[in-house]
Amino acid sequence: MRKAMADAEVGDDVYSEDPTVIELQERVAGLFGKEAALFTPTGSMANVLALAALVGPGQEVLCESRAHILRAELGAHGAITGLTSRTWAHRRGQLDLAAIEDMYAPDMGPFFVRTTAVSVENTHNFAGGAVLPLEDLKALRAWADSVGCGVHMDGARIWNAHVATGVPLEEYGAITDSLAVCLSKGLGAPIGSLMVGTADQVDEARVRRKRMGGGMRQVGVLAAAGLYALDHHVERLAEDHANARLIAEACGMDPAEVESNIVVIDVASAPEVVTAAAEHGVRIGAVGPRRVRLLTHLDISRADAERAARALAALVHPSL
Ligand SMILES: Cc1ncc(COP(=O)(O)O)c(C=O)c1O
Repeated sequence: MRKAMADAEVGDDVYSEDPTVIELQERVAGLFGKEAALFTPTGSMANVLALAALVGPGQEVLCESRAHILRAELGAHGAITGLTSRTWAHRRGQLDLAAIEDMYAPDMGPFFVRTTAVSVENTHNFAGGAVLPLEDLKALRAWADSVGCGVHMDGARIWNAHVATGVPLEEYGAITDSLAVCLSKGLGAPIGSLMVGTADQVDEARVRRKRMGGGMRQVGVLAAAGLYALDHHVERLAEDHANARLIAEACGMDPAEVESNIVVIDVASAPEVVTAAAEHGVRIGAVGPRRVRLLTHLDISRADAERAARALAALVHPSL
């Protein structure tokens, strides 16, 4: 990847003259069967740009209660775009079409906030990397079409969903109006995400990106890392999924609940488990007072996962 970055042909991307960025954008748009894509430094920026195209100031997006766009993007959507949100809650971060239909508000002039988009997260980060079933997504698309509502997918880890299910990326493109996808997570690029959608949405997003200070110059060195990641690091995500299941099973979890590379474990005291795990050389994070979260990725070998599984099993079930 470093060699690909060093060898990258570059140009000024603010003028859309960087051939490596153009190649990456066209490639990713094509993977999802979309017209265009825009390179961004982060997944958060890609989400902001995509949702701003679907939801205007004072309009609302519906999403699951632990969605990354609400919990971990530090209020960017409200602060920058001026949108509002309402949520449904699902333990596994899944869709709840009945709740969505119930919350949906059409344009009622000066009386109610209008819903213009539903945002779904696939895989769902804080729900333990859960995958959204394609049938549910298709049902959402059909309903959204019937009322004229947009559908955005926060697909920071869409590659994991694709590898876990075998669902072609184009299918995810077909059921969404826009996506945000990341090269910097399981795919192992040092930086880089893309907002994916129509040519008009991307033209608009290019202006907003510059306004937010996200106009980048000879950034093909980073796009080259993304292209390398797409060539070499997608199919191997299955190894991360197997490693995550190994750790989950050792911790007494139902392995069927671990669909990708994230494991969320309920424990007696998250801070204590995080500290004890670190003492065993296993870095995990607390996502609540009694909940820890860990991820597997391309720098975690099978042997590393086995070692982590042994350490964590003893901490989560001290009697073992
Ligand atoms: C589901 C999801 N969406 C978006 C993001 C944001 O990505 P970034 O950290 O590149 O802003 C993350 C980051 O972990 C994520 O898990």
